[in-house]
Amino acid sequence: MVHKEIQGISLLELADKYDTPLYIYDTQVIKQRYFALHEALSPIPHKIKYACKALSNIHILRLLSDWKCGLDCVSPNEISLGIMANFSQEEIIFTPNSVAFNEIEEAYKQNVLINIDSTTTLEKFGKNYPKGKCSLRFNPDITAGANSSIQTGHRFSKFGIAKDQLDDVVKIVRKYSLEITGIHIHTGSGISQPHIFVQILNTLSALSTKFPHLQFVDIGGGFKVAYREGDAFISIEALAQQIVPAMQNLNSNYGKTLELWCEPGKYLVSDCGYLLVTVNQIKQNGERIFAGVNSGQNHLIRPMLYDAYHKITNLSNPHGDKRVYDIVGYICEEDTFARQRQVEEIHEGDVLCIHNAGAYGYSMSSNYNSRCRPAEVMIHEGKDILIRKRETLQDLLRGQNFTIQ
Ligand code: LLP
Repeated sequence: MVHKEIQGISLLELADKYDTPLYIYDTQVIKQRYFALHEALSPIPHKIKYACKALSNIHILRLLSDWKCGLDCVSPNEISLGIMANFSQEEIIFTPNSVAFNEIEEAYKQNVLINIDSTTTLEKFGKNYPKGKCSLRFNPDITAGANSSIQTGHRFSKFGIAKDQLDDVVKIVRKYSLEITGIHIHTGSGISQPHIFVQILNTLSALSTKFPHLQFVDIGGGFKVAYREGDAFISIEALAQQIVPAMQNLNSNYGKTLELWCEPGKYLVSDCGYLLVTVNQIKQNGERIFAGVNSGQNHLIRPMLYDAYHKITNLSNPHGDKRVYDIVGYICEEDTFARQRQVEEIHEGDVLCIHNAGAYGYSMSSNYNSRCRPAEVMIHEGKDILIRKRETLQDLLRGQNFTIQ
C-alpha cells in the first residue's frame, strides 16, 4: 500500500513545498516505539540508550532527551551533539573502537561513562585514572546480524574484549582499583531472534561474577525491524518475554539487582523515515526499464552497501498497475536502489517514496559527485518542521582554502 499521509500531512505536498530529494521523519512512530519498549521492559529496572549513529539530527535527539532516553555515542562529536540536545552526561555511554586515547580523555573529562573495548585501552585508562569508573565491552563469540558487514560479535570481529582475556582484564582492574560499573555486548544489527539476547545475557551473567561493583549489564542494540512485507522482525513483547526471566536469573546469580541497558538504533528510527525522490528519467536498455531518480548512494547507501531491501512506492500514481523497474540513482556508479522491482507505473516527474530511510540514511550520506545532501523535515504534533536545510554549493566549499595562489 502506498503511504500517502503522515499525521494528516500529504507527502506529495511536502515534496512540493520543500522540493526533493527530501528526508522526512514521523516523530509519532519514534515515540510509539520508545514507549512500547519501556512498557515491555517495565518488569525490570532498565534504561534505553538510543544509538544516535542511526540518525543524529539534533531535533530528533532533543525529543528523545525530552522523553528521558539515554544516549549511546561512538565519537566525541556525538557526545557534544547529545549534550547540546540536553542529554545529561550521566545518561551518555561512549563506546568507541580503535580511537586515540585523547578521545577517551575528552569523554572522561565530560563525565561520560566510557565503555572500553580493549585491554590496552583499559591499561591506559587505569594508569590515567586509578580508581576510575568505566564499563567493559566484551566480544561474546556469537555470530548474529542481518549480513556479514553488520555482525560485530563473532570472534574474528574487531569489536570487544575477547572472553579468553578475562583474567588479564581482572588483573588490570585490580592493579588500578578500577570500578567496573557495567558490562556490555553488542553482537550486530538486524537480529530477529530474541534468543540471541538471552545468549548475550547468559554470557554477561557468567562474566559478571568477576566484577563486584556492577550497576548494569548492556545488551547493545540490533533489534531487527521489517524492511519488506512479511519480513522477520523482532517483536518487543516476544523479546521481553525472553529477556526479563534471563535478566532475573542473572540478578539472582549475581546476588544483586542490576539494571538492563539496551541501545536500539533501527528499532527507534528506521521506519519513521522516508526519502522522497523525483524520477528524472525513464529509460529502456535491453529488457530492463530504468527509473533514474534525483538521488543515489550519496543519500542512502544501504541498498548499494549491504544489498539492503527498501520498499519503494510511487506517490504520484498510487493506484497505478504495477510494472517492473530497476530504480537507479544519478551517481556515476552502478548505484541501484532496487533491481527488478514491481512499483506502480512510473512516469518522469513522479515522486517516489523510499521507506525505512530513518536509520543509517542521512547519517551515512556523503557529498560524492559533489552533490548536496537533502533537507530533513520532521513531522511533529501534526506540523511539518524543517530541521535541516538542503545543502548548497557553499557547504561543499566550506573549509577549502582559498588563500593559496
Ligand atoms: N550499539 C552499538 C555498540 C552499535 O555499534 C550499534 C550499531 C547499535 C547499538 C545500534 O544498532 P541497531 O539497533 O541500529 O541495529 N549501518 C548499518 C548498521 C550498522 C550498525 C552499527 N552499530 C545498517 O545500515 O544496517
